[in-house]
Amino acid sequence: MPLDILVGAQWGDEGKGRITDWLAERANIVARYSGGDNAGHTVTVGGQIFKLHLLPSGIVQPKAACVLGNGMVINPARLLDEMDTLAKLNMDVSPARIKISAAAHLITPAHVALDRAEETARAGGKIGTTGRGIGPAYTAKTSRHGLRAELLLEPERLGDAIHEHIQQTNVYLQSLYGQAPLEAGAVAAEYAAHAQRLAPYITDTSLYLHQQLQAGATVIAEGAQGTLLDIDHGTYPYVTSSSPTSGGVFSGLGVGPRFVGRIIGVTKAFQTRVGEGPFPTEAFGAEAERLRGTGQNPWDEFGTTTGRPRRCGWLDLVLLRYAIRVNGLTELALTKLDVLSGLKTVPLCNAYSAHPQTHTELPLGPADLSPFKAVYEELPGWEEAVSGARALANLPANARHYIRRIEELTGVPVTMISVGPEREQIIFTA
Ligand code: IMP
Repeated sequence: MPLDILVGAQWGDEGKGRITDWLAERANIVARYSGGDNAGHTVTVGGQIFKLHLLPSGIVQPKAACVLGNGMVINPARLLDEMDTLAKLNMDVSPARIKISAAAHLITPAHVALDRAEETARAGGKIGTTGRGIGPAYTAKTSRHGLRAELLLEPERLGDAIHEHIQQTNVYLQSLYGQAPLEAGAVAAEYAAHAQRLAPYITDTSLYLHQQLQAGATVIAEGAQGTLLDIDHGTYPYVTSSSPTSGGVFSGLGVGPRFVGRIIGVTKAFQTRVGEGPFPTEAFGAEAERLRGTGQNPWDEFGTTTGRPRRCGWLDLVLLRYAIRVNGLTELALTKLDVLSGLKTVPLCNAYSAHPQTHTELPLGPADLSPFKAVYEELPGWEEAVSGARALANLPANARHYIRRIEELTGVPVTMISVGPEREQIIFTA
């Protein structure tokens, strides 16, 4: 089947980039359907590290075409920076290869300023946003004041729209948040320059994808963030403002479900989260530090976008089963198994206790996890490093047991296991 979906099954940062990179080698098109430059996807090829925020991870492959779908919010300055960086590495970033949906929304400095002002004003109740203007851009979209990418094709309309948008936002910035106003003329001039460069990329990407799928192309829908950050299905209000779950693919790309094949959920072999919000299996102190790493390696648990240390803990199967249900996952890709080598036992959370009951499913969804205490199975650990393993049989018996237990308790097969950052450090089980 030609439309394969790849989503984050946790709070983002699951290592989706490298799984997409592998799938992209066999695909014709990689399409992002939600979010913006709040995402940070790291792909390591031959020791060279690519950090992508807006372009689909498929761009690192020489052939796959890349689509930025209508469900995205795009900061043009950051997109152009990313394209320029890749162009210097001799990658093809031409309009023949990259298509931007005319219906995607644009992020401006006003959205960024509002995001930061709102976050500061939240004082104790901070969400811990990435400060990239994501929430305000989606708010503008749903309140029908948004700036769609199609404006980049019409310089005069774009100029008028930017002036109006900056003037409106200044009212909020000044009167609600006591911030300095932005200069509409300067932003309009900046966006006129962006428009000149980006206009050739603007496409009806729904039509493009439909035609390609009809012709038999393989398309990967690449999720950003993760299920638990979904505006509807996540740990609300500690979520992002888009729909990273599989349902978001159809609205975010303008394609129907009839083409769907695999729905792959990417999960780390443990659990991480950035920003605020509940985290029942969170570890602290030396345990957390061990999972996080020192920050010396780019794959250690520090945010790709913000550099913030990630909160770390143990794999939570109550939340993973929830992600499997919400996304209709057909398989799991398990990443960073190598990080667990050397532990005496590996805790695996299969239930929550909330006195006097135990829950193996969330009774009311994940919004309020605060009443729950994680209940763990302690599985035997393994001493051996696993980064050289390329087949299931090369893994220590206890590592295989850990994977089997995840499959048993979720009912979904683990088809890919990553054991290191490099492209070839993946085990395929099927
Ligand atoms: P926003 O998307 O910048 O509005 O941030 C909302 C929440 O989502 C914050 O907790 C962020 O840390 C989190 N978030 C947004 N994007 C990512 C991501 O790509 N990985 C992990 N967390 C993210």
